[in-house]
Amino acid sequence: MSDHRARLLSKVADRSACVGVIGLGYVGLPLALLFEESGFPVIGFDVDPAKAEALHREESYIRHIGRERVAKAFARGRIVATTDFDRLSECDAILVCVPTPLGRHREPDLSYIRATGDEVARRLRPGQLVVLESTTYPGTTREELLPRFLARGLECGKGFFLAFSPEREDPGNKSFHTQNIPKVVGGIDPPSLEVAAALYGAAMAKVVPVSSPEVAEAAKILENVFRAVNIALANEMKLVLDRMGIDVWEVIEAAKTKPFGFMPFYPGPGLGGHCIPLDPFYLTWKAAEHGAWARFIELAGEINTSMPHHVVDRTARALNGHGKSLRGSRALVLGLSYKADIDDDRESPSFEIIEGLRAAGAEVAYCDPYIPMARPGREHDLRLSSVPCTPEEFGRHDVLVVSTAHSDFKDKALYAGVNLVVDTRNLMAPLGLGGPGRPGPEVVRA
Ligand SMILES: NC(=O)c1ccc[n+]([C@@H]2O[C@H](COP(=O)([O-])OP(=O)(O)OC[C@H]3O[C@@H](n4cnc5c(N)ncnc54)[C@H](O)[C@@H]3O)[C@@H](O)[C@H]2O)c1
Repeated sequence: MSDHRARLLSKVADRSACVGVIGLGYVGLPLALLFEESGFPVIGFDVDPAKAEALHREESYIRHIGRERVAKAFARGRIVATTDFDRLSECDAILVCVPTPLGRHREPDLSYIRATGDEVARRLRPGQLVVLESTTYPGTTREELLPRFLARGLECGKGFFLAFSPEREDPGNKSFHTQNIPKVVGGIDPPSLEVAAALYGAAMAKVVPVSSPEVAEAAKILENVFRAVNIALANEMKLVLDRMGIDVWEVIEAAKTKPFGFMPFYPGPGLGGHCIPLDPFYLTWKAAEHGAWARFIELAGEINTSMPHHVVDRTARALNGHGKSLRGSRALVLGLSYKADIDDDRESPSFEIIEGLRAAGAEVAYCDPYIPMARPGREHDLRLSSVPCTPEEFGRHDVLVVSTAHSDFKDKALYAGVNLVVDTRNLMAPLGLGGPGRPGPEVVRA
């Protein structure tokens, strides 16, 4: 056994290995906290000084990661957060959790991975393990990181270790979190796999070793493509059944009683979040390099990205039924985050819906108790802040468009003065609102 490998395995076993986490966002922060809670010394790195400062004030800037958890960890003194990348040399393991967005033409933007690769390579010292966790196309670890580290004159598997292990975080999920979601790991070589698997095994319930980083990279993309394609199918079923006057939500409830061979996915206003809308395009882009066309994935993308336009059209038709046009109407969009009860608004379809309604001449406001102000994003700058979540505010609008099913919106009293709701999430029916003979606003499914 090489000296470095034996030393690293022993430091993992007695939890003296220093774990560095680069990128303290939705993925990196819980990962850093988990290693600290498992007894390891941890250094969190981020280019954003505000994050390190907030953590040292024992504050959490991610709502579902409570302040209490951050405060407890930082009070123990085993974890620090910093912008000083020279401290990378103190780390025995470095876990990379930086963003992997798309560029303007829906091409992978690997600039964050490359910048981080350069920072790590500059300070790479013998015996370090580096694991990429950011979602990306198969081949990234080998093509982007490995050459940068080899250029330092160290041999992979002996002088340093390199692996890919996809993050499978589902923010806000009450049952599954970083510790109990099985961790897929693929090493560049067997020693890299061994040390990476040992590290994760010391903090997580189950490690799933695979034969290469490419398998691990592709597994993560498959998981996200699976969701994107099935959500597209649910959205297509919604459009088809809507024309036929059949309630897609009731159909799904009936179909999901089948105890095998069916898994429910639900329609909505379009895809949101950092993963599902973006990751499939990482694969299609790379596939083209190999002369392969991922038509199924492209089709799913086409259906899903058209959903916000469908919602805007449906809203126009619904208002028309009330003798009003979108132009000049007051519309209130409920929910800016991409899924219920979290504060993440990245890639949220609500932005497209708001801009579509505005483009048609409506006066648009939004209500989201999780997002008091709409932050300017990669493509949108709404310059709006949330209106209060009250019956008075809801009653001031000609139409409400439900885009996110936040629990806060599940209060029947909120809709007492509302005339018309366009519901993309089936929020109204369980409240007993809408439908023939029911009291309250007219509810139109979209
Ligand atoms: N959010 C999720 O639910 C989720 C789930 C699974 C996988 N992922 C993947 O994990 C990766 C990270 O996603 P996220 O949601 O945590 O993103 P995020 O934007 O919440 O966090 C990324 C962090 O990295 C920091 N950063 C940017 N450039 C940096 C650099 N050069 N050096 C150090 N820090 C840098 C940012 O300031 C930010 O704090 C992405 O590849 C994403 O696809 C995300």
